[in-house]
Amino acid sequence: MSKERVIIDCDTGIDDALALVLALSRPELDIIGITTVAGNVDVENTTRNTCNVCHFLGRDDIRIAKGESKPLERESLKASGVHGVSGLRGWTFEKNYTDNLVSQDAVSFLCSLLKESDEAVSILAIGPLTNIAKLLREHPEVKDKIRKIVFMGTSYHCGNPTSLSTFNVLVDPEAFRIVAFAGIPFVSCPLELTKTAVITPEEVKMLEQMNTPVATFAASIINSYGITKIKSDEVIGGEGEEEISENRLKAAKEELVTLHDPATVAYVIDPSLFTSAKYYCDVETKGELTTGFTLIDKNDYYKKSDAERNLTLLESIDREKFISLFLDSVRRYG
Ligand code: RIB
Ligand code: CA
Repeated sequence: MSKERVIIDCDTGIDDALALVLALSRPELDIIGITTVAGNVDVENTTRNTCNVCHFLGRDDIRIAKGESKPLERESLKASGVHGVSGLRGWTFEKNYTDNLVSQDAVSFLCSLLKESDEAVSILAIGPLTNIAKLLREHPEVKDKIRKIVFMGTSYHCGNPTSLSTFNVLVDPEAFRIVAFAGIPFVSCPLELTKTAVITPEEVKMLEQMNTPVATFAASIINSYGITKIKSDEVIGGEGEEEISENRLKAAKEELVTLHDPATVAYVIDPSLFTSAKYYCDVETKGELTTGFTLIDKNDYYKKSDAERNLTLLESIDREKFISLFLDSVRRYG
């Protein structure tokens, strides 16, 4: 089987960590590097989390580079309410591991990886696209070394956190536009799809019953990730990593949890789990209320040619096969 050469760009929060659990166990992928970006939490935390998770998964062979601390033109937006202040609510690593962190910044690391690779590389972008847009703007000469960009984000009739935009686009819509019109094959895993890519409480229990360090880690952060609307009386403690009350944790264990980033990674591992179609896509960057809205021209209103249809939109996923792929990947760590 030929491996697909991949770089992962992430804003490691909880679902990014789960995506790393999936990706780093797969023989189908040759992960030549990981870059981090500000998103769910600040770039110091996303970088620390990424280094710790890769070490925890036994992948000290993978080099990591710290990326942009804020969007191209806007102030930062965070999602620490969903992922916790650290970005990995539900888990604390005993100590931080940094031997896998290179001194280069993400953009120069990405540029070196692409120039040194003797074959085209797919970029798996599961955070805001700031690093990738900066790379394309500053080093257009590497475009032909990028096989495709697979992105978690876009939506066409729902949104998260606003009712019309998805977080990874809303944080940096200018970056999204640069990537969408770079002329590189661009695949997006929209919120409409990831909302169906859920893990059930019964499947989380299967993780817990594996009783291995990685399975316990995955189950613990999944149970935390379900805690999206914490009421003030459910948080114990003040600043820093809030503790969640037992009763809230119990309630969270009854919720379906959406695996946005792992579903996006699954496409690179096994595209047969998905259906897709090509559309013209652009993004609102000036709207007072609609900034971050991705226009996906499903009605063909703009009558674009095939060549102008710049987005391959993933439209459905076989959830059962996706979850068994995820559970199988967790088992591979022993
Ligand atoms: O909307 C969900 C996406 O935004 C995921 O990638 C999550 O990690 C956040 O980055
Ligand atoms: Ca992410």
